[in-house]
Amino acid sequence: MSKLLKVLLIGAPLLMAAPALVHAHGDGAPSPIDTTGLESLGDTDREKNPYEGNPKAIEIGASGYNKNCARCHGLDAKSGGMAPDLRELEKSEATDTYFLTRVRGGAQRDGRYRMPPFGEILSQEAIWAIRTYIESEAQKDPALAAKVN
Ligand code: HEC
Repeated sequence: MSKLLKVLLIGAPLLMAAPALVHAHGDGAPSPIDTTGLESLGDTDREKNPYEGNPKAIEIGASGYNKNCARCHGLDAKSGGMAPDLRELEKSEATDTYFLTRVRGGAQRDGRYRMPPFGEILSQEAIWAIRTYIESEAQKDPALAAKVN
């Protein structure tokens, strides 16, 4: 078999698979999250995370976090320094409310977004699921868990 033919035979399926792979891992572009399986919350905002400790919320939140937040706030919610380490946010009702507001509004400085607003992209359910996931990651780190609980 010619070398070129081999390259084509091996390379073509890989190339065709590539977009699917990229998609599966999330390309970092803001994307909505399917929250099927979580209690629907309706139009009224909760002040406190209704899914605290809920395993399904942790699972959905992990995927939502990885698609939308990890590129700035770091893998496994461990910040690499580009953006605040979200595991350090205190576990309290005030911080829950703050979290919802911040994620929806994003962060602007000098007229430029340092964090995009997610209010149009993520449902209340999705944002609480992400909060639940981040808390579960904080609990895996004994030093942090002691600090934020
Ligand atoms: C493009 C990068 C970027 C993305 C994507 C991003 N953030 Fe941020 N985020 C930042 C930066 C930068 C700050 C700090 C902004 C400031 O100094 O006001 C921040 C701040 C925050 C804060 C406030 C933290 C604090 O300590 O007060 C929260 C909460 C937050 N982000 C949550 C999220 C969540 C949840 C997602 C995903 C849905 C997300 N961010 C996606 C860059 C990003």
